[in-house]
Amino acid sequence: MPRRSKSGPVVSATSLVILLLAGLALRAVPTAAATDTTHDKRIEELISRMTIEEKLGQLTQQSGGGIAEFNPNSDNAAFEDVFGAVRAGMIGSFLNSHGAEYVNAVQRIAKEESRLGIPVIFGNDVIHGFRTTFPIPLGESATWDPHLAEQAARVAATEAWAAGLDWTFAPMVDIARDPRWGRIAEGSGEDPYLGSRLAEARVKGFQGEDLSAPYTLVACAKHFVAYGAAEGGRDYNTVDISERTLREIHLPPFKAAVDAGVGTLMCAFNEINGIPATANRMTLTGILRGEWGFDGFVVSDWQSTEEMIDHGFVTDEKHAAEVSILAGVDMDMAAFGYREHLAKSVKEGRVPMAVIDEAVRRILRIKMRAGLFENHYRDPLKEKELLLCPQHRAIAREVARKSIVLLKNENGVLPISDKVKCLALIGPLAASKRDCLGTWAVTSRDEDVTTVLEAVKQRLGSDTEVLYAKGCDVQGDSQAGFNAAVDAALQADAVVMVIGESENLSGEGHCRSDINLPAIQLALLKKVHATGKPIAVVLMNGRPLTVNWMAENVPAILETWHLGTEAGPAIADVLFGDFNPGGKLPVTFPRAVGQIPIYYNHKNTGRPPCEDRFSSKYIDLPSTPLYPFGYGLSYTTFNFSNLQLSATKISANGELIVTATITNTGKRAGDEVAQLYIRDLVASVTRPVKQLRGFKRISLEPGEAQDITFKLTANELGFLNQDLKFTVEPGRFRLWVGPNSADGLSAEFEFLAQ
Ligand code: NOJ
Repeated sequence: MPRRSKSGPVVSATSLVILLLAGLALRAVPTAAATDTTHDKRIEELISRMTIEEKLGQLTQQSGGGIAEFNPNSDNAAFEDVFGAVRAGMIGSFLNSHGAEYVNAVQRIAKEESRLGIPVIFGNDVIHGFRTTFPIPLGESATWDPHLAEQAARVAATEAWAAGLDWTFAPMVDIARDPRWGRIAEGSGEDPYLGSRLAEARVKGFQGEDLSAPYTLVACAKHFVAYGAAEGGRDYNTVDISERTLREIHLPPFKAAVDAGVGTLMCAFNEINGIPATANRMTLTGILRGEWGFDGFVVSDWQSTEEMIDHGFVTDEKHAAEVSILAGVDMDMAAFGYREHLAKSVKEGRVPMAVIDEAVRRILRIKMRAGLFENHYRDPLKEKELLLCPQHRAIAREVARKSIVLLKNENGVLPISDKVKCLALIGPLAASKRDCLGTWAVTSRDEDVTTVLEAVKQRLGSDTEVLYAKGCDVQGDSQAGFNAAVDAALQADAVVMVIGESENLSGEGHCRSDINLPAIQLALLKKVHATGKPIAVVLMNGRPLTVNWMAENVPAILETWHLGTEAGPAIADVLFGDFNPGGKLPVTFPRAVGQIPIYYNHKNTGRPPCEDRFSSKYIDLPSTPLYPFGYGLSYTTFNFSNLQLSATKISANGELIVTATITNTGKRAGDEVAQLYIRDLVASVTRPVKQLRGFKRISLEPGEAQDITFKLTANELGFLNQDLKFTVEPGRFRLWVGPNSADGLSAEFEFLAQ
């Protein structure tokens, strides 16, 4: 039976007593350093006994295995290949297989029948939930609530661990400034500060306080690095980037994950300035290990080692394996180049045995830290009990509704009264289950989802007639359903349209050159709008969209992303005012693809946009976004006042306390996210016009006021100087405290040299 612990899903009275006793016996409990020393000895002892084949086995991750077909009561002859390889110590890790019974069988063979008894590590993409599915990470980031993101990761870890997994390929911490890129859905958006806070929260959520305890997963920060900077927003494309942008924008969330103790990293598919990320010594060894002291392991991305043949960087698989391991990639995902070629490379003197040993050491270290050498066999009954349990669904609903961003609400169209007599629910996403789940729903099930249609009907009950009309497909040309949609709208007192992107319009390999609402849906929206009925749009999407017509013409818009299992109930909560939306955009919404890249923390230039012809702007479009980073409304209103700084000057060891009062000036309770931005006004390297340096999501009752405080120290004010060394230069700074990146109260202060 699995042992329960602080990190587990349930803390029973017995385990509380055990925990208390453990606390009392604290001095007897080995410290992390002592545990590491014990591990180190055991690792060295194992390495000294391993053959080169066994070592390369540890560096190999194979895809597939059991899951559906496995039956613990049969001879499972079909699995003999896999089992045989595990018995021979030829596989260090699996991905894409799970299930308590199957994993137990494999681990039993690894531990009891292989020569050295080394367990395998089961990894999978548990990106936004396992069976209980949470909002896509971009949506979850709109909560601006790291604590909630931590809880979501905790639930995902609990379920995935119960189902046999040890390791998740998450969090994805890639900064994305290009919404054409489909994988923007999987990250935290455009900002390194918000991204860092969410990265550390998610790592903590997955790994728990004690990685060796049950119900925890080793986390994997990916894709190292600058994957989100692909040219043209096209997946896997070339990345040509300055070292400054790499260090100031793309590396910080990885650093935050490393500081939070992340066990592994995954390297990226892209090249960085001519050198594939998979062979990049500067990033994988120089920065990650040298500068940051990371002692976990790095896994390649899916066959990214071999893909360097297509990059034109290596001649063949053997060459690929050599440059990857020499750069610092420890495990080869879904490829066998390491296992097949590196013994020869060692013999030829092309790869020192010490490099192989170091990779094995890192992998064994994480296996030990994760408690894999202990007997954590999974309990199939627990797997059944925990997956999609009511507590997990409740947290998923909370995260989902907190992820919703109110983009527009004129004339109080929202919330809709639950006394409405007839409601038209229109659009191709209103009754879709799959599309609620979002891009990484590999272990989710459609049947678990409550759709918007189902949830709205449940919420309104039999007193309200709900007229559903699909109207059209997500994409395509057929207008056959338009008339029924218009008829429904004409009969109704309130109209809600659920439109946007299906789940397969974002995510890996799903980049778009046009990020508008698909044309057929825009045509449907215009037809329904022509009825004159006020429409509330529920947008579902995996990226920012250029919804200018909608923003101009439709009175109410809710940005709901792909919210997961609880999408329907969460959206119904917001539509009828049971929950007041308070999410904020973690990414800029452009007006047109032509504005991309567009992000709030840009430089000012020598000719900032103005009336003047010779300023930095377009002649056919404002240079401002459709919706700025950090933006989001509420059913109530908030006022920011009384900005105060504890001093007008701050020195190197000092701190500045920034205070502002936020008042709920409306008639409903609601959430506001106070955001602190700074700008270094003059520096030896030009600085962004704004940089996020703090945020707090707070809840206020009508009429309630709260003082919020932020602390600024030299750390938050510095930047990389011309030699790329962190520095804080004396001089004037401006700061803003407000509800988004475009508004706020502002003040200046000075940083002094001493
Ligand atoms: C490729 C993706 O880039 C990566 O994010 C994922 O973890 C692996 N495939 C494994 O599925």
